[in-house]
This record gives sequence, C-alpha cells and structure tokens, in this order.
Amino acid sequence: MNSDLTRRRRLARTALPAAALLLIGSAVAVQSSAPAAAAETTLRAAAANAGLFFGVAASPNRLYPIVGQEFGQLTPENDMKPDRIATSSGGLQNTSGADTLVNHAQSNNMLVRGHTLVWHSQAGALQGASQATLNTFIGNAINRWGSRIAYWDVVNEALEDNNTGRRRNQWPHTMNRDANGDGDFFDPGDTDVIRDSFIRAKQVVQAGGYTTKLCINDYDVDGLTVQGGVRNRKADALYDIVSNYRQYIDCVGFQAHFNDNPNSIITDDLQANIQRFADLGVEVHITELDIDDDLSNNDIGAGQAENYRKVVRACLNVERCTGITVWGISDSESWRSSERGLLFTGGNGNYQKKAAYHAVLDELNKGRNTTTPPPSEPPVDPTTPPPSEPPVDPTTPPPSEPPVDPTTPAPTTPNPTTGCSATVSALDAWTGGFVVTVRVTATTAPISGWSVQLTLPSGSSVTNAWNADRSGNSGTVQFSNVSYNGSVNAGQYTEFGFQGVGTATGLNPVCTPA
Ligand code: XIL
Repeated sequence: MNSDLTRRRRLARTALPAAALLLIGSAVAVQSSAPAAAAETTLRAAAANAGLFFGVAASPNRLYPIVGQEFGQLTPENDMKPDRIATSSGGLQNTSGADTLVNHAQSNNMLVRGHTLVWHSQAGALQGASQATLNTFIGNAINRWGSRIAYWDVVNEALEDNNTGRRRNQWPHTMNRDANGDGDFFDPGDTDVIRDSFIRAKQVVQAGGYTTKLCINDYDVDGLTVQGGVRNRKADALYDIVSNYRQYIDCVGFQAHFNDNPNSIITDDLQANIQRFADLGVEVHITELDIDDDLSNNDIGAGQAENYRKVVRACLNVERCTGITVWGISDSESWRSSERGLLFTGGNGNYQKKAAYHAVLDELNKGRNTTTPPPSEPPVDPTTPPPSEPPVDPTTPPPSEPPVDPTTPAPTTPNPTTGCSATVSALDAWTGGFVVTVRVTATTAPISGWSVQLTLPSGSSVTNAWNADRSGNSGTVQFSNVSYNGSVNAGQYTEFGFQGVGTATGLNPVCTPA
C-alpha cells in the first residue's frame, strides 16, 4: 500500500446522518416491486428469494457451520488455483483441499465457483506453459468436478493495471499475436490465450455434457468510469472481449475489491456497467466483494454499510446479475484484514455481524427492482466490431451430434511410409457450428514436424484454430505444427483443434511429416 493511500485512509470518515440513511432506505423501499414477504434472517435465504446466490470465499480449515447457513455458494479462496493443483504438464495434484470444499458445498446444497484456470499469478508449475499444456490442464480440471462446479473462472485478471485497457504483458498473455497488426487479438489469424482457453473449456464442457458455465473474471472493471469521471478503459476492454467471444463466455465476474485506489472506487454507474454486460446475454456476478471500511473518495458517499447496500442494490436491479460473493467471512481472516472490508468481525468460527451485514440482509430482503428500465444505458461503442458469429443461445438444445468418446479409437489414416497419422479425437457439434480436435500420432519413428490436410463439407468453414497454423478456411484446409508441437516421439501424439460454422462430417484428415 503506498503512503498516499495510507494518508487518505486516515481521513475522517463521513458517516451519513441517520435521517439521510432513512431517506435512502425508504426511497428504495418505495421503488421495490417485490411483494411484501416475511423478511429472511440469512443472506443465503434472502438472496435466494430475490433470485440470486450470495456466496463466500472459503478454505478447508474454515468450514464452520456459518458457511452453509449464511451462504448459498462457495469459491475456494486458494485451493483450486494452479499453484495448488496443477503439475507442469497440465495434470492434477494435491486436489484434497479442493475436493473437501466441493464436497462441503454439495452436502450443504451450495453452488461452487471454480477459481481459477488461466491466471498470470499463483500459476505454480504452470508458469510459462504453452497453450497446449494450458489446454491439458483445463481439460483435467473441468473433468475432475464436472457439473459439481456451477461456474468456472476460466481466465482471471487478463487486463493490465492503471486503466490502460490493454492486456497484461506477462505470461500467459505473452503468447498473444496480433497477426494483421490492427491492435487487437480478435481476428482469425491472431493468437489469443483468452479465446483459445475458452474454446478449450467450452469443448470440454460440451463433450462431458456438463452444466458448468464459463466465466471471465477481473478487478477494477466495476464501473463505467473511475475516479474523476474518467472512462473505465479496463471495463471497456473486458466488454470488447466478452462481445467478441460471446459464443464461449457464459458469465462475467466483477471482483469488486473496493478501496481508495482511484480505479477501485464505487461509482454511481456501477449498475449501468452491470447492465451493459447483462445485455450481451451473459450472467454477471460480483465475485470477490470486499469494501475498505474507510473508502472515502467514491462518488456515492462514505460509510461501509451504505456502500455495501449500493453494490447489492446495483446487482439486484439487473436481472441477469445472478450472484454476489464476499471474499471471506470476517475482517480478521481476510486477505486484506487492515481494510476491515467484510461483513463479520471475530474469527475461528465465532463471528459477529457488522452493520454492513445488516445493510446487505436488508437490501436483499427488499428484492429486485427490475420493473423500471435501468438508468442511462451507454450506447455500444460503434468502433467495436460486432461478434463474428452469433452467440450460442444457452437455451439451444444440446449438440445435435453426440460428442465422440475420446476413449473410442477413431478410424485412422495411417501411412507407414510417411510416419504419421491423423484422427479426429473429439467432435462437438451443434446446430450451425462445431469444434474438432485432431490427434497427430508419430506412427513408427519420431517426427520433427507435421501437416494435416482435411476437407470440410461444402458450405462449412473454419473460424479459428489453436495449436496449429492453418491455410485455407473452407474446402481443403491445411494445418501444420507450431513451434512447440512439431516434435513427436514414436508412438506419441499431439493434438490441435479448430472451430467452424456449418457441419464437420467426413473430414478424413491425412497427415504428412514435415
Ligand atoms: C487472494 C487470496 O485471498 C489470498 O489468500 C492469496 O494469498 C492471494 O490471492 N483476485 C483473485 C483472488 O482472483 O484469487 C485473490 O485471492 C484476490 C485477488
């Protein structure tokens, strides 16, 4: 924490006078469209009545009864991060803490948010890994818990600090390539770790028939503006990402760690920002909420309880804002204990409710207020290219073709004289689109490069590919190895994938070693 921040922290708190609080309270009550009902006495029940979950970040050593009583959703605070569970080749290890949390959630009927698959921080053995290894990890992690995880944070904190609106310049984002130099990573020839990770995650979810939804999560993306009314470029960048990759992204997480950093304050356009993401058709969640108790330079007014009320109200007022998670139970056990940013004091299972708790409970009990149109929706930036493909409708019936069981050997096209074979090892298809995984096997001897040719049915085309360079989009398309997957030992294989529109029957891939 810098000294400027510390100094600002010492500023006296301006508590709203009681009369003003009453006024705000009654104004909200008048707006509320929910029928009068007996007030619920837990956050969990009050939220459920309003049609959202209220959750908490948890660790296996703190699974006190309060967790299942007050909260309807659980996010492992640290136990599902790559530094805990990933091996350097994308396998799983040390999953016992995560398993304990998932089991606890299940036996208490709580939803689980998996946190997190692709992240520059707490990457552990995955630090520096290739996309292929990330994809392996994504598959292993999603498959381990399947539908027991309601939401996965697939990519966490992809965007740079200081409101630049840029991607981070750290691994894994260093894998990104802007092929046509137009300043973004959204084009078919570009490489984008966000896109490729989501494509892989979507493929795994579809192949497994899981109900899991796939989220992108970040901080300082909460309002349309930051301090001083400056445009929130980080939020805009996230909006562009979700718009472009809407077909793979189901949900957006605003971490909502609110503090005195100029980019981390609560602004009065929080609701409008939630609304514009919701209007893309994704669920919006407040995923890691904590509010510095002397947050003083926000646009809304000081007072922690009042600030909590504002955040909860902003979510309640947007129907597709379907969950709020606080980042811990009590101040003393928080990752930022000095900010006293949570809803309880105390520790070790003996917790006392703060004013902020009562404010949140009260606000949840008022229910949603979605009958009036949301205020001031910002126009969509006309410079943002429209999504290249229509979003996948979540109500669309499941893939019309059953996924190929990867354990079933698919017909191969071995060519003993060339030394490699190519097979379709997974195919996920739905009305109008597909994702294909192709396995390249070195049949008799090591190979140091490969190319695979296959033919798409007429009218079908490839929209993007990963773990391979490609030439052509339709008809006969050629894929060749990238720098990290050309060498394959005898009897071993590597995989690449692509997504397309149309159908993907009779591809008949043929492999040629380079
Ligand atoms: C934090 C945990 O709360 C700490 O215990 C750990 O030491 C560091 O990570 N954004 C995230 C969370 O996505 O995973 C972080 O959690 C907080 C910021």
